[in-house]
Amino acid sequence: MKKIFPNVVENTLIADNIFKLVLEDNFPHDEFKPGKFLHVKCSKGLDPLLRRPMSICDISDDERYLTVLYRREGRGTTLLSEYRAGEKIDILAPLGNNFELPAGYNGDKNAAGDLQQQCLSKKILLIGGGIGVPPLYYLGRKLKAAGHSIISILGFNAAKDVFYENEFKSLGEVFITTVDGSYGMKGFVIDALAEIESAEIVDCEPSYDVMYSCGPKAMLKALQSRISSDKLAYMSLEERMGCGVGACLACVCNYNEGFERDKSYSRVCTEGPVYKLHEISL
Ligand SMILES: Cc1cc2nc3c(=O)[nH]c(=O)nc-3n(C[C@H](O)[C@H](O)[C@H](O)COP(=O)(O)OP(=O)(O)OC[C@H]3O[C@@H](n4cnc5c(N)ncnc54)[C@H](O)[C@@H]3O)c2cc1C
Ligand code: FES
Repeated sequence: MKKIFPNVVENTLIADNIFKLVLEDNFPHDEFKPGKFLHVKCSKGLDPLLRRPMSICDISDDERYLTVLYRREGRGTTLLSEYRAGEKIDILAPLGNNFELPAGYNGDKNAAGDLQQQCLSKKILLIGGGIGVPPLYYLGRKLKAAGHSIISILGFNAAKDVFYENEFKSLGEVFITTVDGSYGMKGFVIDALAEIESAEIVDCEPSYDVMYSCGPKAMLKALQSRISSDKLAYMSLEERMGCGVGACLACVCNYNEGFERDKSYSRVCTEGPVYKLHEISL
């Protein structure tokens, strides 16, 4: 983890209150792995003092550009939205753990032959809700590059909130849900998952091997009840944070019984934000 001062290249509105921030610096893929996050100093002064955690949505193949997508919520993200191209921004990164990738693929550029890659190929299900969608895009790009097939379910409140549909379509099949039914399927991501799982019964083959999710607690809780603990499934938590580096305990959550490590609690900023789906009590 280090402090860096990348250049802002772009900071533009791409959906209702959703911004795309592109930063320019050196972002090595083997350090800035999918699932890790940045701690962003949103203000140019001292107020607000605390940094705001933001996921890595993408890193360009030449490792020069990093993309963050954020929702303008409160004071911090409103100040963030005022940055203009050419300004520098104060970032601590990369923080947290990262998504575990399916066995046989470690994220490094290696010389694995096509045949070996095909044998390792897995069906991946990405489930994102609202501002939990961004980290799944970088993960999906890495998984696709490794030869895995991707299905994405992305949930939003309404048509005006939908973003990155085409980007996810470049990875594979995409199902969009909106709560008010103004775009895609009416309902929640869990409703789209039910459809995919009923197709599984008809086809007699599992519709996915590994599931990765990120989104609001209610969505993750619904996934915990819906998806069996036998399935390989992960979630990334977006807990409120203070220091971001394990010192203040602002982000603590509890392990579920049977998943405790050396302690009964976990710091999302350090042991997380990525966990097995059933590991944490929500
Ligand atoms: C690991 C991690 C990755 C994240 N990645 C992204 C991302 O890629 N894009 C993005 O837009 N946001 C992301 N978030 C959430 C983001 O950090 C908060 O939205 C941000 O801190 C809000 O700051 P603010 O000053 O604008 O709002 P505040 O004024 O602090 O809060 C505004 C409102 O949002 C609520 N809120 C603030 N933080 C959270 C939170 N973490 N969870 C739930 N509710 C919250 C507050 O209770 C309040 O109602 C991430 C959070 C974590 C922990
Ligand atoms: S934010 Fe301080 S310990 Fe996690």
